[in-house]
Amino acid sequence: MKIKTQKMRNKLKTKNSYLIKIPLIAEGKRGNLSFCEVKRQIPFNIKRIYWIYNVSSKKSRGGHAHRKTEQVLFCINGSVRIEVDDGINKDAFILAKPNNGIFLGKMVWHNMMDFKKNSVLLVLASEFFKEADYIRDYNIFKSIAQKQ
Ligand code: TYD
Repeated sequence: MKIKTQKMRNKLKTKNSYLIKIPLIAEGKRGNLSFCEVKRQIPFNIKRIYWIYNVSSKKSRGGHAHRKTEQVLFCINGSVRIEVDDGINKDAFILAKPNNGIFLGKMVWHNMMDFKKNSVLLVLASEFFKEADYIRDYNIFKSIAQKQ
């Protein structure tokens, strides 16, 4: 049995965000297993879990930031391009392995695109759903973010 536990966090230029690597237990033909635990790989108490799937490769999702909610995203099947922006710095990368994720803290503008067929994006969130937590206008986001 092969257990991979590499460096778990990789910082990005974008504030309040970093890449996460979670354990991968590879057991040959028995397959792979990955897991994450609260206060270990996940830095908040999880109040909500949702997943995004059946997205056309031509469409993008996101296009907002959260005032308070923190999230960790894993692409558990397929691959997805993620773009993040703190109002000044930006990063873009592709989530393509089920044990690679990204932490998005509060006030990170994010877009998800280039969903490969059958991709599933799993999201762990620190808060219950509340529309008032969203900032969906980029100019409003930028002016709030740059004052912080
Ligand atoms: P939204 O967060 O805008 O999706 P995305 O970031 O993928 O583009 O949510 C899409 C719709 O689903 C919107 O009407 C709000 C609703 N929704 C909930 O009701 N509960 C949830 O937990 C989430 C994430 C969204």
